[in-house]
Amino acid sequence: MNQDSFTALITGAAGFIGSHLSEKIIQLGGNVYGIDSFTDYYPRKIKEDNISMLQSNEQFKHHFHFIEGSLQHMLIKPILNKVDYVFHLAAQAGVRTSWDKNFYAYTTNNINATQHLLEECQNTQIKKLIFASSSSVYGNAKTLPMNEHHVLSPVSPYGVTKMVGEQLCFLYHKTFSIPVLSLRYFTVFGPRQRPDMAFHKFMKNILLGRPFTIYGDGKQTRDFTFIDDAVTGTINAALHGIPGEIYNIGGGNRAELNKVIEQLKEITGSSFTFEHQESQKGDVQDTYADINKANNEIHYRPTISLKEGLKQQWQWILNYFKEERNT
Ligand SMILES: NC(=O)c1ccc[n+]([C@@H]2O[C@H](COP(=O)([O-])OP(=O)(O)OC[C@H]3O[C@@H](n4cnc5c(N)ncnc54)[C@H](O)[C@@H]3O)[C@@H](O)[C@H]2O)c1
Repeated sequence: MNQDSFTALITGAAGFIGSHLSEKIIQLGGNVYGIDSFTDYYPRKIKEDNISMLQSNEQFKHHFHFIEGSLQHMLIKPILNKVDYVFHLAAQAGVRTSWDKNFYAYTTNNINATQHLLEECQNTQIKKLIFASSSSVYGNAKTLPMNEHHVLSPVSPYGVTKMVGEQLCFLYHKTFSIPVLSLRYFTVFGPRQRPDMAFHKFMKNILLGRPFTIYGDGKQTRDFTFIDDAVTGTINAALHGIPGEIYNIGGGNRAELNKVIEQLKEITGSSFTFEHQESQKGDVQDTYADINKANNEIHYRPTISLKEGLKQQWQWILNYFKEERNT
């Protein structure tokens, strides 16, 4: 065990970020209790694949304890009594699908589940609870880069639920001294990226020789964060973050979508076609993280360039969809 090893509860452990975080903590010598309800937002099979190594590989399986269930209906205290840190990643993700009747899934999984977890954390010895928030809380920011003091003005119902989640965390910190802090992730990418996210969709379609869609004119910018950097930042937040605080986790890779398309041509070596459609309700024009606070307080320094990260994601796509490609 090294100094970074600890026992953690990770909610949403079968998801994109949760599965990588689980692996990293175990690689550092720690143990993980993982909770996931396999919501139907994207196929269960993908989530099972995300945790297959954790459940079958000798290095991981003795340190990964998986519990299937919906957080808001679970008695979590017995697990909380066994762990040092809690990483609360379980959520209904996705901005575009958060309108209309779908919103119920967002309030249930992002607000009710969070409030239940915070209640359960009372009278436990946890050292810290990390809440996965999002750059979506900023909306169309008036000034760039966005720092943590920028006024919050989400433009999607999803962003509203993340804002409420942060507020609940702060409330329980102030009222019950729960040592909770929030991380605002900026567009995380890399191997196992969720299938509803742009790079995953672009690359899968390129591989299968199908056209794909870009919403808007491609001039929108995103601060892309490679998964390994997001995971390191998350662990650093647990070890060094200050309860009650909020940290931006951006990748230092701000780019126009059109630039990403150029890079994909080079990386995939393929010619491909795409069409533009109107930008979608809930999408913002730009994101750009000011990461000075994370840099100073949790020693967060992203290291993976957009191009290197895209290469790694492309390799993963090639491997993950090799059978579909051959049929
Ligand atoms: N991926 C990104 O770019 C990004 C950006 C900003 C914020 N985030 C946040 O980071 C977290 C992880 O995102 P991700 O991309 O890995 O998403 P993901 O959908 O891959 O993972 C979330 C997991 O949570 C599970 N889950 C949802 N509701 C649950 C509940 N009530 N009980 C138990 N399990 C539940 C889902 O089944 C899923 O496996 C989320 O909170 C998301 O909002 C992600």
